[in-house]
Amino acid sequence: MSIFTTASPDETTAIGQTLAGKLPHGSTIALRGALGAGKTCFTRGLVVGWGGSDMATSPTFTLVHEYSTQRGPVFHLDLYRADTAEEIWTAAYDELNTSNGLVILEWADRFPELVPAEAIHVDITDIGKGKRRITITP
Ligand SMILES: Nc1ncnc2c1ncn2[C@@H]1O[C@H](COP(=O)(O)OP(=O)(O)O)[C@@H](O)[C@H]1O
Ligand SMILES: [Mg+2]
Repeated sequence: MSIFTTASPDETTAIGQTLAGKLPHGSTIALRGALGAGKTCFTRGLVVGWGGSDMATSPTFTLVHEYSTQRGPVFHLDLYRADTAEEIWTAAYDELNTSNGLVILEWADRFPELVPAEAIHVDITDIGKGKRRITITP
């Protein structure tokens, strides 16, 4: 387990970028944290770290966002508004089973049944004054 403290959105993005460099194809990242914690910010770092352009905005009304990067596709699933695990499986079966891409589950804690046992868990907590504590558990 690694714990980081960041003092700006850019620092949070940088932690994501560093982690991305260590992720093999087919990895799943389970992101947890309250609204505004910095999950999308962290996701941007993962995308950039895999060689994508900086384009990870909050996917407000779309369940799956796909970013193409030098290392392969990054599938970003925002589960905030999803109602059932079945709905997510139906919408993103192929993405959830990718072997050459990266899967990022934002609000993963809402659907623990979708999180593979080998997923890397990233928890982001607002600890005040613009700071965030980021815990990465492999
Ligand atoms: N240290 C920090 N790390 C990440 N975001 C921060 C930090 N300090 C302030 N922020 C702000 O918090 C918000 C995080 O937004 P976002 O990444 O969309 O959160 P989430 O996806 O978890 O809802 C942004 O407005 C960002 O500017
Ligand atoms: Mg978000």
